[in-house]
Amino acid sequence: MDQIEKIVSLCKRRGFIFPSSEIYGGFGSCYDFGPLGVELKNNIKKLWWDEMTKMHNNIVGLDASILMSPKVWQASGHTKNFTDPLVECKSCHKRFRADHLIEKFKNSQKIDEHSKFTEEELKDITKMVSKIKCPECKGELTPPRQFNLMFKTFIGPVEDEASVAYLRPETAQGIFVNYKNILDSQRVKTPFGIAQIGKAFRNEITPGNFIFRLREFEQMELEYFVKPGEDEKIFDYWVKERVKWYVEILGIKQENLRIRPHEKEELAHYAKSCVDIEYNFPFGWSEIEGIANRTDFDLIQHQKSSGVDLRYFDEKEKKYYIPYVIEPSSGVERILFAVLCDSFEEISGGRTRTTKSTKEIETVLRFNKKTAPVKIAILPLVKNKPEIVEKAKEIYHLLKPYFLCQYDEKGSIGRRYRRQDEIGTLYCLTIDFESLKNNDVTIRNRDTMQQERVKTKDLKQKLTQLLNTY
Ligand code: GAP
Repeated sequence: MDQIEKIVSLCKRRGFIFPSSEIYGGFGSCYDFGPLGVELKNNIKKLWWDEMTKMHNNIVGLDASILMSPKVWQASGHTKNFTDPLVECKSCHKRFRADHLIEKFKNSQKIDEHSKFTEEELKDITKMVSKIKCPECKGELTPPRQFNLMFKTFIGPVEDEASVAYLRPETAQGIFVNYKNILDSQRVKTPFGIAQIGKAFRNEITPGNFIFRLREFEQMELEYFVKPGEDEKIFDYWVKERVKWYVEILGIKQENLRIRPHEKEELAHYAKSCVDIEYNFPFGWSEIEGIANRTDFDLIQHQKSSGVDLRYFDEKEKKYYIPYVIEPSSGVERILFAVLCDSFEEISGGRTRTTKSTKEIETVLRFNKKTAPVKIAILPLVKNKPEIVEKAKEIYHLLKPYFLCQYDEKGSIGRRYRRQDEIGTLYCLTIDFESLKNNDVTIRNRDTMQQERVKTKDLKQKLTQLLNTY
């Protein structure tokens, strides 16, 4: 099994992530987050939200609706430009993104007379595709055609052109169409930001790599409105800030992150410049966040299209302008996937009592204190001693309102430690015979495996202190 397969299997077995509609055979690259997955997801979203709205005094939040007037998507350019080049194999009829095939072809190690494109060909995607064969069956590919990624639906009972609406492919437009409401209702001054977390939908041609490319996902987007001319400096500031967040807050290893500036041809239709923050996934470096300089493109488009004045009045300079926008935009599932990959560790030979003597492999998810879905497990040493079980349940009820806890009395203590290590629980509290005499518990640290005895009366304070030290 490769690492991704192991992570997928652990996620299913331990209740992080399930394939959607699984009893019906699954559903086209949609996933459901189980009890642990939803906690992990909520932790990531809360950490992002707090970073934006609490740690910055000039960022406010928003929760716009998913369905919006179709005029929004015409003005933003998505109806026309939010497309991917689609090719189909004439033999096996599988469909692919032409740009992905070209990228793979360029990177392929086999240098033969067909492996390079001429200058002329590089400018023409159809010519490049004509040199590539179907990766599945080596059949001939159709010329690429532009395929719009927005999901269409109908509002009301009649399914005609007039009732067409789209599921938003990015949350950003909800921010742009509320920019004036924010200006009018809050006392914000440039530079200021509007942060939003919410679902986005894209009819991806080739979804895949588990939860990396989904058709339904959540975005965390900040639109940061700045005075034109200050955009480039502020863009650099956000690139640094965002990398810092991944390392210092989520605990992702610095060496597994890199910055990749976009080539001119890659830029989205609205962007002047863009860099991706990439994570070193087991399948290669891939984007988890894009930071784009969207200029005044969106506000100008919406001003033209709606006829509403979207200029900002700069009181200090006594002049009107349309702000430029710097946009750090990330996907919750991709970040969660990166956190899972970064935390996943296998220890061969075993380190707990149950496995020390065997050649078994133990798995530990080394989530940090902020991301770990379960913070504490409460384990009575044995389950056939009513006083011990009673005391353990008492402690569970004492701590439950403050920390996400699990109570587990099934199986040997070593096996229970292993189960908790596998889901990344930070501390295991064990209630044993001595606990009854001394009114204390042992606290076992997931990473050092060291145990410390703490009086029950001091437990809440001790755990608060442990969980707040990073
Ligand atoms: N508003 C700008 C925007 O949407 P993007 O680069 O297309 O830019 C931003 O998307 C982020 O959203 C990506 O970095 C990625 O984390 C996430 N994302 C995009 N498409 C996704 C998909 N199909 N599945 C999961 N996440 C996706």
